[in-house]
Amino acid sequence: MESISRGLEDVNIKWTRLTTIDGEKGILWYAGYRIEDIINAKAKAEEIQYLFLYGNLPNRSQLDDFEKKVQQGYKIPDYSIKAITALPRTSDAVALQMNAMATFAATEKFAWNKATDRDTAARIIGQMASVTAVAIRHAMGKEPRLLEPSSSLAESFLKAVFDRSPNEKEIEAMNDALILYLDHEVPASTTAGLVVVSTLSDMYSGIVGALAALKGPLHGGAEEAAAMQFQEIGDPSKVDSWFQENIKSGKKRLMGFGHRVYKTYDPRAKIFKRLAQELNLKGAPKTLYEIAERLEELGIKELGAKGIYPNTDFYSGIVYMGLGFPLQNNIYTALFALSRVTGWMAHFIEYVEEQHRLIRPRAVYVGPSERPFVPLDKR
Ligand code: SDX
Repeated sequence: MESISRGLEDVNIKWTRLTTIDGEKGILWYAGYRIEDIINAKAKAEEIQYLFLYGNLPNRSQLDDFEKKVQQGYKIPDYSIKAITALPRTSDAVALQMNAMATFAATEKFAWNKATDRDTAARIIGQMASVTAVAIRHAMGKEPRLLEPSSSLAESFLKAVFDRSPNEKEIEAMNDALILYLDHEVPASTTAGLVVVSTLSDMYSGIVGALAALKGPLHGGAEEAAAMQFQEIGDPSKVDSWFQENIKSGKKRLMGFGHRVYKTYDPRAKIFKRLAQELNLKGAPKTLYEIAERLEELGIKELGAKGIYPNTDFYSGIVYMGLGFPLQNNIYTALFALSRVTGWMAHFIEYVEEQHRLIRPRAVYVGPSERPFVPLDKR
């Protein structure tokens, strides 16, 4: 049979100047900058969003302009809010994001244009932030609240979701989460969105397609699945027996472990682990952190030889829980999407503007050879 690359493993579908990964060494570069250097430099998420859309880091006035464009997206129309609040409060938060972004696909007059694509993308970041805040508040039983301009997207977002002002450490953790999940080359969600925009469908529809793929437990959904595994274990004293019964037996996969590209520790996981430690977790998040630490030890001992290590989703859920986001309704995956929407749009723009080609693979036919059609009354 002609060869099929299952799961498109090791197939290149585009070139990119955005992100590249060394899976063997566990290195992640954003446009040539190592992720550790970006985080250690205390970069603002908006600087890295600008980098992805314009190809270089902004100076002060470029950053100010960009932040204003993002803030213009905060005020979303009532029909986009209703696309969320009309659904039950138990709805999946990523599906709520899909619903709301589809209202823009339905109403915005979008056309691909080098002169405006980046400004549109900046506004969409703001729209996505308010959509996500409304979706999370809906799940938490609260009335909609949109973002208001402040010193940063991270601060505005936390203020919109929670009824209290975030402290500096919380703003820093939210800011860094927005950077850490911003892009990762062409995972399933980016690829899904690229297929959509390769037909010259609009940017919003590309985002809806990407959200649909991210929702799954093997991709973005793993953040929530990993935290739920920690919650299922419940107590650090139960980790070893749980591990024996579920992972060593092969009955379950250790969520937040393993990666198609990284065959060593995901550099983002190391940073999320540090962020979790620095949040001075108390109560449930602290217990889950202690469970996660022990699970990490057992997981690496058992699975490390197969190149299966913690990935970005292993500790991120604990950081989100430490920030006050409840572990429910796929909210953690919705937070992943809030960050990744910039990476999706940067890849869409790079593809449509510079290397556009309709994505249309083939399938190897293994069905019956030609045969005469038998009418119904003769069957
Ligand atoms: C993200 O692609 C990206 O860049 C994604 C992402 C991003 O930023 O966009 O990095 C974000 O999605 C991270 C991954 C989150 N997913 C999970 O944590 C879910 C658990 N992980 C696995 O399901 C798995 O590791 C995948 C899906 C992530 C990758 O799997 P592959 O490359 O398709 O490998 P596979 O499923 O074929 O597994 C190969 C072997 C199998 O064993 P054998 O059948 O060969 O004996 O490894 C085993 C698997 O059983 N394995 C695991 C495991 N992951 C793989 N065994 C136990 N626990 C795991 N987590």
